[in-house]
Amino acid sequence: MKILDIRIREREDSRGAPTIVVFVTTKGGAGEASIPSGKSTGMREAKTLAPKDAVNAGAQIAAALAGHDFSNNRALDKTLIALDGTPLKKNLGGNVMLGVSLAFARVRAAAEGKALWEILRAEYFPDLAATPIPRIFANLVNGGVHAKSNLSLQEYLVVAKPYLSVSDVIAGLKKLYAILGKMLAEKFPSASVGIGDEGGYVADFRDDREPLEILTKLLRVSHSDDSWFLGLDAAASTFFKNGSYRLGNETLTAAELATRYASYAKTVPLLKTIEDPFAEDSLDDFAAFQKAHPELRLIGDDLTVSNAAAITAATARGAIKGVIVKPNQAGTVTETCDAITAATAHGLDVIVSHRSGETPDPFLVHFAKAGNVYGVKIGAPIAHRLPRYEELVRIYDTC
Ligand code: PGA
Ligand code: ZN
Repeated sequence: MKILDIRIREREDSRGAPTIVVFVTTKGGAGEASIPSGKSTGMREAKTLAPKDAVNAGAQIAAALAGHDFSNNRALDKTLIALDGTPLKKNLGGNVMLGVSLAFARVRAAAEGKALWEILRAEYFPDLAATPIPRIFANLVNGGVHAKSNLSLQEYLVVAKPYLSVSDVIAGLKKLYAILGKMLAEKFPSASVGIGDEGGYVADFRDDREPLEILTKLLRVSHSDDSWFLGLDAAASTFFKNGSYRLGNETLTAAELATRYASYAKTVPLLKTIEDPFAEDSLDDFAAFQKAHPELRLIGDDLTVSNAAAITAATARGAIKGVIVKPNQAGTVTETCDAITAATAHGLDVIVSHRSGETPDPFLVHFAKAGNVYGVKIGAPIAHRLPRYEELVRIYDTC
């Protein structure tokens, strides 16, 4: 498919911050992609260019690629990676490169009359057949840098297992979210409960343990078994200062923080997963904790930055049992799919994830379906988080 033009326009994300839409025109048709952005970003993830620089990078890519024919995404992405020439995509930007790569995949899908996930499946996961519905990691209480509150931990997630259809599981989550809202409104004086970046509730809880206790009560009412459980995303790099962790008013060593997580898990047996429990350079602490607590599943995000080599290195140390994959951390369609393939080969639970600054573009659900992943992390079932919920229904529920 011959590239004719690439254009980039600025748009707002769900936080009101500037982000980009990328348009790719080819001889066989046009496609576009809107790119989200993170706030608790990993040090080693692909760099995001500000819209003005992104427009220039887009023009640079257009000049280099116009007239060139690419038969698949791997060929295009290889060229983009060579053109950028840096490990963290500093020149062309991970946001620009992913936008071009994704928009091109969409052109191919449209030309073949296929869904985006089918194009990705055919190119990157040709041996997969079934399409099991992924678990939904729904972030119902927001803290850390995604909220103005006293919580240091960033996300309190309900991990919902599908029953028969996606619609069923979403209806269950929406009910849970509404009941939680009522519980919090009763518990906290009026107007002191807010909504965070990912749609979860924000309040000044007693401490970082309290939301886990409240969510346990909530789940015990609706789910008597453990099919729905709880997860945390500590995003610990955001409260790691000068060698220690600032949890609320406390200053903790890594060992003390590990003891705290273990105590959460003891008093809150529904807590099964913890994402980024330690700072992004603390592979040893991840490995020691995962070894000592095989009953908990540690998940890498800032630690592994959706990079196949980093995922392999973390797995070799026994540091994680699951991994977050964010397409804009990787920076191209190919690298995202390669990260999913590597993680799956290592037996990790793969969770494809949104960013805290989102757009209505629901592309990540297509990566999830193409790669048959374990879960999708898509925030609370409200407002600007809904496009990805709706896309799940669209591409998984057949009636
Ligand atoms: P971010 O946070 O999108 O703000 O980086 C999401 C996460 O840490 O999982
Ligand atoms: Zn995270």
